[in-house]
Amino acid sequence: MTTSASPDAIPEPPKGPSHVAIIMDGNGRWAQQRNRPRLFGHQAGARRVREIVEACPDIGVKYLTIFAFSTENWKRTQIEVAGLMTLFKRYITKEMQAFVKERVRVRFIGDRMRLDPKLQALMDETEKLTAENDRVHLTIALNYGSRDEVARATKRLAREVSAGKIEPETVDETTLARFLDTHVLPDPDLVIRTSGEARISNFLLWQSAYAEYEFVDTLWPDFTRDHLAEVVGRYGLRERRFGAVPA
Ligand code: FPP
Repeated sequence: MTTSASPDAIPEPPKGPSHVAIIMDGNGRWAQQRNRPRLFGHQAGARRVREIVEACPDIGVKYLTIFAFSTENWKRTQIEVAGLMTLFKRYITKEMQAFVKERVRVRFIGDRMRLDPKLQALMDETEKLTAENDRVHLTIALNYGSRDEVARATKRLAREVSAGKIEPETVDETTLARFLDTHVLPDPDLVIRTSGEARISNFLLWQSAYAEYEFVDTLWPDFTRDHLAEVVGRYGLRERRFGAVPA
């Protein structure tokens, strides 16, 4: 005789992703479609961030990680890089109090050392000011690249080994993860890339080993809370196996 669930049993609602990571792509094309400079698109993209952060608690997303500037983005024109750096400074200065008020905890990942000291100071201040918040955890990847992150983590780990604090034989995945920029965060459940490109571009390679991916055609400045809710809803219908077979 086969056993089946009682007909009265209430089915569990689909479980949404707790940690969503987004590659915010398409600002340049959005500006181009309007015959405007690329920075115009980045400014529109920055305005969109607020709406998406605010949508997170309503749709059950606790952690949001966004890719703002990659270790490869330095190869863009000097005008675009300088414009983006100014935009980050203005954005953080303008949004800092809103993050405090909305109880958003802000963290930054990536190599800060190459960034303007004024920007670094703003990043430090925002992290300190929001350290007690717990409504949404927003992580902004700034001068971030996964390979660079793993290389920096390995360097720190090697220092601990050579100082005799860690036995090489004990090094495993958990040990290395402790040295990553993301060491306090859970792994992302869902990684979204906007603008129709289907690439990962050196974003959270280690952390997204078991993440689901969604590539959506919408350009980032047009990506609304409704788009986010739709993608998150689709995630709930997927079956995640983490390498196992279905029960
Ligand atoms: C990719 O679009 C986007 C970036 C390299 C920058 C992302 C920055 C923002 C969304 C704005 C600021 C963010 C914060 C947190 C203030 P692209 O320029 O590669 O677009 P394209 O592929 O259409 O050229």
